[in-house]
Amino acid sequence: MLSDLARWIADRREAPVPMRPPRRSRLPDVTRSGIGIQATWTALRDVLMPTTFPTDHPRYLAFVGGAPTPAAVIADAALSAASIYGGSELEAGDVVAAERAAARWLCDIVGYPPPSHGVFVSGGSMANLSALVAARHGRIAPDGELPRVIVASASAHSSVRAAASIMGCHVVSAGSPDQRLDGDELTRVLDSLDGRDVVAVVANAGATNTGAIDALDEIAECCEVRGIWLHVDAAYGGAALLAPGRRAEFRGIQHADSVTIDPHKWLFTPFDCAAVLYLDPSIAREAHRQSAAYLDAVDADDADNPADYATHLSRRARGLPVWASLVANGTDAYVDAVEFCLAVAGYAAKQIETLPYLELATEPHLSVVLFRRRGWMQEQYDQWSAAAQAAGTALVTPTTFDGDPVLRLCFVNPLTTTDDVDLVLTSLECDASSN
Ligand SMILES: Cc1ncc(COP(=O)(O)O)c(C=O)c1O
Repeated sequence: MLSDLARWIADRREAPVPMRPPRRSRLPDVTRSGIGIQATWTALRDVLMPTTFPTDHPRYLAFVGGAPTPAAVIADAALSAASIYGGSELEAGDVVAAERAAARWLCDIVGYPPPSHGVFVSGGSMANLSALVAARHGRIAPDGELPRVIVASASAHSSVRAAASIMGCHVVSAGSPDQRLDGDELTRVLDSLDGRDVVAVVANAGATNTGAIDALDEIAECCEVRGIWLHVDAAYGGAALLAPGRRAEFRGIQHADSVTIDPHKWLFTPFDCAAVLYLDPSIAREAHRQSAAYLDAVDADDADNPADYATHLSRRARGLPVWASLVANGTDAYVDAVEFCLAVAGYAAKQIETLPYLELATEPHLSVVLFRRRGWMQEQYDQWSAAAQAAGTALVTPTTFDGDPVLRLCFVNPLTTTDDVDLVLTSLECDASSN
């Protein structure tokens, strides 16, 4: 069964995968006696898996895909097979050290000096929540009063609003959706608020819809003079810090108090894996460390327990696949892979400018390209997207930019080539329903 699994993974990753899931079949029932592991595996392979979209397919260009390396996949499988509890040094041993090394690499990319530290959580949503909980911990008034306002870039990911709601806070938006937030706009918003009521400012380093990076240096300065915690959501965009030519766009990120970067997006790691990084990890530890008789009896105060830095206790050692892949491939391969994605995005933008039936909706940011098919309305975009899916051409979905429907391509897979781009763009020449 294991070799069957290995073969299936190899085929799925190397052969062109049909993008059209077949009609949903009936799942085997949960019964009192069970059907056995072999029949269950067969059902997984032949019934369930074919109905899923492989997000590492070269023409999965919707949302934010992913493209895990074989080394990361093997480490991820080993984690499950070994039943490792990743919350504490006591149980996870040197796996904690490996995760720490992976977090250190991410801190270095951001420009965080020691003792900055981070931990791996399930996704950008949990990373953002954990960072904001830490931010609030540092701002609780002496009388115990909690601040309740999170000021977020208007293009902030929906998870920031979700975090605010979990925390009993509300979001005040700064700037306009689909545009980068700058210092003047943030100042205007902060001047209208009571600073004591502000938990944090959340800025984007790679907005999901547009890829835009807020003016992080101006925003960091605004926050510093007011003593406000700055969280930068670089869940998608942070990987581009690896590209020397793009680092200037992130200037100021090193002054943020916390940063989210998701290796399961553009850093070649399987779902689920996101990092929350803290400039001063001691505040995060105070905010998140859980205390209970059965924990306190065994946890040394100086233990390096990943459980202590986010909203979790039991956890998967999600940083292990990141570390294993870095060790296997070397960091240069990461730089090359990210640069390649940026170059393919640049190629797509150039082609769109050249083809008479297409036009860019805006200058592309990072590896997100937003564009229009001239003459099309929402209905045609929906039709084309559904037809492209059904034909196995690509998964590309519409979105809006400045209120108008557009198509969006997001490049995070170094196996996506300019040929894939050409295939998608030429399919837009025809009638919306017939590609
Ligand atoms: C900028 C940004 N932040 C946060 C998230 C949420 O991440 P996750 O889906 O891993 O929870 C996303 C997801 O696309 C994102 O793009």
